[in-house]
Amino acid sequence: MRARAWLTPYPDAQAAVRRVAEASPWVQVLNGIWKFAYVERVDDVPAGFYKEDYDDSGWDDIPVPSNWQVEGYGRPHYTNRPYPFPVDPPRVPDENPTGCYRRTFTIPQEWAGRQVILRFEGVDSAFFVWVNGRQVGFSKGSRNTAEFDITPYVRTGRNTLAVQVMQWSDGSYLEDQDMWWLSGIFRDVSLVSEPQVHIYDHYIRTDLDETYTDAMLRVRATIRNASDTDARAYTLSWQLLDRELAPVLVAPVQTQVSIPAGEEVLVDLDHPIADPHKWTAETPYLYTLVLKLTDAAGQDVHIGATRVGFRRVEIKGGRLCVNGVPIMIKGANRHEFHPDLGRAVPWETMVQDIILMKRSNINAVRTSHYPNNPRFYELCDEYGLYVMDEADLETHGFSLVGDRSQLSDDPRWEKAYLDRMQAMVERDKNHPSIIIWSLGNEAGFGRNHVAMAEWTRKADPTRPIHYEQDKDAQVADIIGPMYPDLPRLIELAEEPEWTKPVILCEYAHAMGNGPGSLKEYWDAFYKYPRLQGGFIWDFVDQGFRRVNADGTEGFVYGGDFGDEPNDGNFILNGIVFPDRTPSPALYEYKKVLEPVKVEAVDLEQGLVRVVNRYDFISLDHLQLVWKLMAGAQCVHAGTVALPHVTAGDRAEVRIPYAKPKVLERGTEYWLDLSFVLAHATQWAEAGHEVAWAQFRLPWEGQKAAPRLVLPVELQEDAKTLRVVGAHHAVDFDKQRGVIRSFTYHGRELLAAGPRLNFWRAPIDNDRKEIEGKWRRAGLDRLTHRIDDVQVERSGEGEVQVRVAARIAPPVHAHGLVCRIVYTFRGDGSVLIETEGTPVGELPYLPRIGLQMTLPGTLDRVRWFGLGPHETYVDSKEAGRLGVYACTVDDLYTPYIYPQENGNRSEVRWATFTDLRGLGLRVVGYPDFNFSAHRFATEDLERAAHTWELPRRDTITLNVDYKHHGLGSHACGPEPLPEHRLEPRPFRFAVELQAGLFRRV
Ligand code: GAL
Ligand code: MG
Repeated sequence: MRARAWLTPYPDAQAAVRRVAEASPWVQVLNGIWKFAYVERVDDVPAGFYKEDYDDSGWDDIPVPSNWQVEGYGRPHYTNRPYPFPVDPPRVPDENPTGCYRRTFTIPQEWAGRQVILRFEGVDSAFFVWVNGRQVGFSKGSRNTAEFDITPYVRTGRNTLAVQVMQWSDGSYLEDQDMWWLSGIFRDVSLVSEPQVHIYDHYIRTDLDETYTDAMLRVRATIRNASDTDARAYTLSWQLLDRELAPVLVAPVQTQVSIPAGEEVLVDLDHPIADPHKWTAETPYLYTLVLKLTDAAGQDVHIGATRVGFRRVEIKGGRLCVNGVPIMIKGANRHEFHPDLGRAVPWETMVQDIILMKRSNINAVRTSHYPNNPRFYELCDEYGLYVMDEADLETHGFSLVGDRSQLSDDPRWEKAYLDRMQAMVERDKNHPSIIIWSLGNEAGFGRNHVAMAEWTRKADPTRPIHYEQDKDAQVADIIGPMYPDLPRLIELAEEPEWTKPVILCEYAHAMGNGPGSLKEYWDAFYKYPRLQGGFIWDFVDQGFRRVNADGTEGFVYGGDFGDEPNDGNFILNGIVFPDRTPSPALYEYKKVLEPVKVEAVDLEQGLVRVVNRYDFISLDHLQLVWKLMAGAQCVHAGTVALPHVTAGDRAEVRIPYAKPKVLERGTEYWLDLSFVLAHATQWAEAGHEVAWAQFRLPWEGQKAAPRLVLPVELQEDAKTLRVVGAHHAVDFDKQRGVIRSFTYHGRELLAAGPRLNFWRAPIDNDRKEIEGKWRRAGLDRLTHRIDDVQVERSGEGEVQVRVAARIAPPVHAHGLVCRIVYTFRGDGSVLIETEGTPVGELPYLPRIGLQMTLPGTLDRVRWFGLGPHETYVDSKEAGRLGVYACTVDDLYTPYIYPQENGNRSEVRWATFTDLRGLGLRVVGYPDFNFSAHRFATEDLERAAHTWELPRRDTITLNVDYKHHGLGSHACGPEPLPEHRLEPRPFRFAVELQAGLFRRV
């Protein structure tokens, strides 16, 4: 059947407005357990399996919807670009896995004399359908809806349905998206009973006037008469209900219509609506439109309901506007994926994703790279998310065999291209959330795209069109490049003349640890009017959950199913893990997307400026909760009512804190500001934080008390220097130039002493390029040569050891010439001052720091610095100054492909103690980064899955001066110049202290 926006029939208006299709007597959902036979080749399909009397009792059972690879047939296969079969369009291989499905269904008596529609919402990739042994039809376009009019094939009572699904079809050439190849009936299947004369399709437009106040509600219905008698004097009517389901108009709008037998009639039924509530992602006000078709005798024959959001989308002054206001796209690309179910994503997961997005200040989704489950758009309408709806079309693999645009420019494929656009637009056209149509992804650019755009503009002139590979925007309304670096972005932004906005359809590749520089992108988006945000790549890591025989668990990726060729872990680019646990990137994204920005005006007076970065709403729904912090202590707190600040506006706010009379010694003071929801919303409780800010207060407590000078005793032989204090002792290895033992009250605090370290387990963003440079430069196997060790007693309570070292790789002449000065004191502390000078040609360094090993018992961590989550030099906006406590295990971020992780930045001090508080404290001069793990760097490098990481009985502690940035080079730019760790002379100092550190 032709694609359409179907109108689910209900028995009456009350049922219609509730819009629970399953509850309608005219709908049967056929999800459930079906019979299933799987064969490797189409030729092997069981003969006559579609016949009514075929005996399927020996077949397996399979749940519908599902992907059969997930249910144990064939295997998931991951490729980014390559087609996993020989490229010879439109042909596909003989080895074409095929699933045969059977089930029965019952047509009730009440359905007699009506139309019966069989609807598949998603079948990958092509399929035949038989009812009662007779072939009904064929369809393809995996993520599009296929409907079959099976009226002539069914009878009242029991019927047999058979479906044959092929994994590969010519359609597969158009479905080469970067994702798992997964097959089968993966979305709902249902039967719908429609009256013979019915509303086949409907298209709703909410045209707002030039002042965006009043609307003309335009309802266009396609009425079809499937009977063989003319339908005379029918009435089409509609009424609009507000959110409380009260009628908006005094009387329904209606018109008479007659439909000749076997024909269709288009009816336009428009009516003005005075000043309706407007729909935006921030104000997702939905009305309900009840559509009714009544026969000449006054009998209602078809009643259905659709939700309506009044809004107008346009490109105005070169900017994308909703209701006349240029908006900011705080977007995420989202694949339909579930770690246990593949692309058969349950409704609960859709809701979970949307709630997570709303709570994270995300306001837009690109349905990369295909139309989603229809329920998803309903949820976006309801919760308020802008959607870029993308056609199921990508031919990326042609870039590997010559011409990426081969099919896109081939007129023989035009129909297939058009079909994919039509299927999406016709199905989805009534959703207010959809504000942009996308012609698909990465299929080069050709005449078929032009045809798609032309058709779309005619069919639905109310939404702009995006297509990334239409680089000069010949047909697209938006310049939507992917992964431009900042200079390129700014170049676009600064073009003196432009008529089309720039919205990045993909940016900030969140593969593994990263991305870096989200802040800088957002600074640019806010600075230049032409830039209107973008969609991060992407929302969820597409790793399948695996439980191993030994009980260990983790997620797997390309290649883990023996799928060849594959693109490995390039499928793990999410800001949430497959089970929707946030990755640190989600926190960072949430922070840079904050709708409230705060600037200091006069902190001593408690004066700040609050900037409203919403596009439509005021800050009235928020409360400002403030705290005056003195280190770990909150010394004063309160709540301030915010003034009425309209969208885009700003206002000064006074925080009525009282400055403490006496300032604590050596304590930092700052103001914590938190903007929380005053009332619960559909997606969060009251008190949910949407934005926050911190400001250091310019107060200096008195200097910390001078240290006590406690005597040290020295013992020395040729190999070892032993420094003994009242409660502690340090053994220093004079040949290796390191601390060998550090005890406190007789307990060992170090399993291996600190050594300079420049290496990190490469992150995905390093792998593209810099890792190669690092390894070629030998940074992964630096050797330490100790050239000189000088011991000098510098006072009664102090001994200094000066070490000269050359740290360099085999093969090369380059390296780092370093000096380390240890000052051992009688109070149980060791000051470590380091400096180094690179010699020769070195690339950027992975990191500069000290690495040491602690006994496994010192696994309680407390620190004062940014937290609680992982932060890095180019990803620490979400890091909040505070005192945090957790265990070493909690510091670990379980990136599915193990890599450097868990860094904490701007740390003033950190303690690593046993349960009783006995252990080591690291103090910065002024601060440092640290990470601590149960495994070593080489373990991280070696492991390909989380469960391969050993759990050692020691802790590897990195105390770092600096890190190379994260960047997003896995598929985007390198770290910004200011975040690269240049090989330059460096100097830093930290102090280790032994002691009993209790909570303060
Ligand atoms: C883009 C593409 C996405 C994904 C991403 C890399 O080029 O559109 O589908 O492949 O790169 O993760
Ligand atoms: Mg691609």
